[in-house]
Amino acid sequence: MAQQITVCLINGDGVGKEVIPAAAQVLEALKIGITFTQAEAGWECFQQRGNALPEETKAAILAADGTLFGATSSPSTKVAGYSSPVLGMRKAFDLYANVRPTLSIPGGVQGIDLLIVRENTEGMYAGRERVEDGGATAIAERVITVKASERIVRYAFEAARKRDKRKNVTIVHKANVLKETDGLFRSCALKVAAEFPDVTYDELLVDACAMWLVKDPTRFDVIVTTNLFGDILSDEAAGLIGGLGVAPSANVGSTKAAYFEPVHGSAPDIAGKDIANPVGAILSAAMLLDHVGQTEAARRVEAAVFAALAAGIRTRDLDGEATTEEMVRAVVERM
Ligand code: NAI
Ligand code: MG
Repeated sequence: MAQQITVCLINGDGVGKEVIPAAAQVLEALKIGITFTQAEAGWECFQQRGNALPEETKAAILAADGTLFGATSSPSTKVAGYSSPVLGMRKAFDLYANVRPTLSIPGGVQGIDLLIVRENTEGMYAGRERVEDGGATAIAERVITVKASERIVRYAFEAARKRDKRKNVTIVHKANVLKETDGLFRSCALKVAAEFPDVTYDELLVDACAMWLVKDPTRFDVIVTTNLFGDILSDEAAGLIGGLGVAPSANVGSTKAAYFEPVHGSAPDIAGKDIANPVGAILSAAMLLDHVGQTEAARRVEAAVFAALAAGIRTRDLDGEATTEEMVRAVVERM
């Protein structure tokens, strides 16, 4: 009997409403009997319901084998009662690994195939911020723990072991300045590295890593780092292969709950115009398929995306003319 797979779709805000239905169309075209559920989260959801991540949405995520999420429009200033559903999901389900592959696409710079594994639960995004001196000073606390550091580095080494590339992990930190926090991350990383004799590793300071990503991205296999550094480096890496529109990501942890999202945000500047690139969302759906063990289906989706891009069908962000709808059709036709 075929495996029963339930995928929860959460469009969220802005272009999420276009790219998630697009990815769902591709999943549907696989004809492997996926059951879809729908749930709400994000800024619009907050405005309508007073909660950016309602309990029933969390229940839907838990009930599914994987969740596809679009994006949220988080305001840059504090809004009473609002907190990002992205951070909420990571916290609620302890999704400690943010996994972002960067693979050369047809027509762009070739030879890039790297994976950034970013710690997803602490660091600069631990949510410990406060204001002192009546507003004259703002302080953020950076939290690094042995537990979170060891498990994220272990995830990275296991990922490197599974890849058919060089099987190398680059440990990225700034321990020369952040002696306590990144000193702890680094010592945890070196300890875990010793458990993997079949995987090589090296170390880079984050600023040097940013430079090397631009100068020679082909030298990297797996990069593991703390939350904020990973956030920045992975957007930089996306820029190497054509931008945010094509970059996928996974948020996974120790339980069954996991969600997959394009790296980009809600892109209000292009939302509602049928010009958003659905490739990041579609490749995120492929990561979901891998997560549920549908590796053959995942490869089919990726191959169809690459074939469509190679045929010159591209959205505007890749200097093409295709609409979102046309891009999806081109992918579906090639499956
Ligand atoms: P963004 O990723 O939404 O957009 C940055 C630039 O990339 C824009 O010029 C946009 O048009 C372009 N872009 C993004 N996705 C695209 C796509 N699929 N196809 C073609 N072009 C695309 O980041 P921005 O503008 O900094 O943030 C907008 C909103 O998104 C903010 O409210 C922010 O908080 C939110 N955001 C949410 C994220 C999430 O839900 N995980 C991640 C990043 C930002
Ligand atoms: Mg980001």
